[in-house]
Amino acid sequence: MGQLIAIISQKGGVGKTSTAVNLGACLSAIKKRVLLVDVDPQCGLAQCFGLDRSVPQAGLLDLLRDGSSPERAIIKPHRRLPRLDIIPANIRSIEEEREYLRILDVAPEAMIQILTKIRGQYDYIFVDCPPRLDNPTEAVLTLADSYMVPIQCEFAAVGTVGSVLRAALEIKRQRNPGLGIFGFLVTMADRRAGFTMQVVREIRQYLKERVFRTIIPRDTRLAEVPRRQAPVLAYDRDSPGSRAYIQLAREILSKMKAP
Ligand SMILES: Nc1ncnc2c1ncn2[C@@H]1O[C@H](COP(=O)(O)OP(=O)(O)OP(=O)(O)O)[C@@H](O)[C@H]1O
Ligand SMILES: [Mg+2]
Repeated sequence: MGQLIAIISQKGGVGKTSTAVNLGACLSAIKKRVLLVDVDPQCGLAQCFGLDRSVPQAGLLDLLRDGSSPERAIIKPHRRLPRLDIIPANIRSIEEEREYLRILDVAPEAMIQILTKIRGQYDYIFVDCPPRLDNPTEAVLTLADSYMVPIQCEFAAVGTVGSVLRAALEIKRQRNPGLGIFGFLVTMADRRAGFTMQVVREIRQYLKERVFRTIIPRDTRLAEVPRRQAPVLAYDRDSPGSRAYIQLAREILSKMKAP
C-alpha cells in the first residue's frame, strides 16, 4: 500500500508545489511508482508540467462531482518518467472553485474515497495542498499517513510552523490517530547569506530529527520549472537544485529501509 503524504504549509510560496514535482520526479526516476495529486484550486502542479486547465481533461473536481473511477483523471506528465502520474485539480473558474470547496465542506469523504481507491497502485502519493489549512488540506490530512512541511529558510522561519503543527495535531487527535510527520524540509536556502546556517540551526533545535538532513538551495534552475514544463531533473540534472532533490529522495529511501 502506497504511503500518502500531504505537503502542507499555511504560508504561500515556500516550495510545496516545487517539492511535489521535483521530489516526485526523483523518486520515480529511482523506480518508485509515484502519484502527485493537486488539491490546490490554483492548479500550480499541473502548470509545472505544462498542462493547461483550458484543455478538456478530467481532474479531481470531475471525480468529486460524479464519483467516477480515478483512472479517468490520471495523466503521465513526462515521457521520460514513466512511473510518475499526476491527477490535476482542473478547476477552471471561480464558480468551479466555489463548487469544489463546497463539495469538500459537505462531503470531505468524497476525496478520501478517491485516494483510497488508488493507493495500492503506488509507492508514494504526494498531495500538493494550498497555502491554507482549510477544507482541501483538512480532507487530505484526515486520510494521510503523514505530512511534510517545507520551510523557507529565512528569519523567523520557526514562527511560521506553529500553526500548521497545531492544525495537524488537532486532526490527528480528532480524526486520524495514525497521522505521522514525514519531515520538515528547509527550502530556498541561500548559502551565501550569512544568516542561513543560523536559521537552519534554529529550525533543527525546534523540530529536532524530524528535519531532513538535505537542504534545498535557492536555485534559479528550480524556478524555471513552470516555464520548462518539466521537473528540473529532466532539463538540468546536475544543477544544485536537482542534486538536492535527488539527495532528498535517497535520504527518504534510506530512512524507509532503516529499522
Ligand atoms: N529552491 C528554489 N529556488 C528558487 N526558486 C524556487 C525554489 N523553490 C521554489 N521556487 C520558486 O518559488 C516560487 C514558489 O514556489 P512553489 O510554487 O513551489 O511554492 P508553494 O508553497 O507551492 O506556493 P503556493 O503556496 O502559492 O502554492 C515558484 O515560482 C517556484 O518556481
Ligand atoms: Mg503550490
